[in-house]
Amino acid sequence: MRALLPIVRDQVDVHAWYAQEWLEPGGLRVNFVSSVDGAATEDGLSRGLQTDGDNRIFAALRDLADVVLAGAGTVRTEGYRAIDLTPRRCAIRREHGLSDQLPVAVVSRSLRLDPASDLFVKAPEDGRTIVITGSDCDHDRRRALEKVADVVIAGDQDVDLAAARAALEERGLTRILCEGGPTLFAELAHAGIVDELCLSVTPLLAGPGARRIVAGDLWPHDPRRLTLAGLLEEDDALFCRYRVAR
Ligand SMILES: NC(=O)c1ccc[n+]([C@@H]2O[C@H](COP(=O)([O-])OP(=O)(O)OC[C@H]3O[C@@H](n4cnc5c(N)ncnc54)[C@H](OP(=O)(O)O)[C@@H]3O)[C@@H](O)[C@H]2O)c1
Repeated sequence: MRALLPIVRDQVDVHAWYAQEWLEPGGLRVNFVSSVDGAATEDGLSRGLQTDGDNRIFAALRDLADVVLAGAGTVRTEGYRAIDLTPRRCAIRREHGLSDQLPVAVVSRSLRLDPASDLFVKAPEDGRTIVITGSDCDHDRRRALEKVADVVIAGDQDVDLAAARAALEERGLTRILCEGGPTLFAELAHAGIVDELCLSVTPLLAGPGARRIVAGDLWPHDPRRLTLAGLLEEDDALFCRYRVAR
């Protein structure tokens, strides 16, 4: 992998690259892959856009996180499971001062999540999956999920995402890696609580019709400014690290 910024450099240690200005003080980092023409999905999933470099960065960002945050749409579509950290991944995490647990936190209004799925039953007792929802949620679904997950209430109908971030931080989960999807990312960015966007740009024209990395309500006259903090390249794919104005 070649570093293009701030100076051209061959062979970058991906963990060291993404650990700088992140391990301390932490923050909310979002990771996406997109084609050059802006598609965030191919045949409804991100798999068709992934490259070897993107997969390595995806894994490294997990290695450097205290929690993986995802919208329920992504959890359902991509079939999210509890994260099973191998001894090798735990060793990498320990080198960076991180714990052997990497819980998933899911944001959901509907609580349409299967309590019998691997997302919940395969999570270790000391790293249970976290479900973040509003107080107006379906109470039967909430009770069923409370048996297998830590349910956090933030807001009433919609999840108050700033309160959700604060609730994770109160648990000591200060390095928050959000893996999407576009609806959750747009809401987080519009709420001004995203610190960093890690965007893999895959050298592909996916063609018309695909979704972008943002979805949902429009932001009239209110775009978010990004600053390029780093850029890597491998096999014509670009790996951008942007700071997001808050
Ligand atoms: N290219 C990439 O890197 C990438 C990354 C991730 C995902 N994706 C793709 O994106 C698609 C899924 O994205 P998506 O936009 O449909 O879903 P999403 O953003 O993952 O999740 C949306 C869901 O999250 C919950 N949610 C979001 N904001 C909320 C709030 N403020 N309060 C309460 N609940 C909230 C709701 O869940 P409920 O419906 O349960 O209420 C909502 O329906 C999939 O096709 C996936 O493959 C691509």
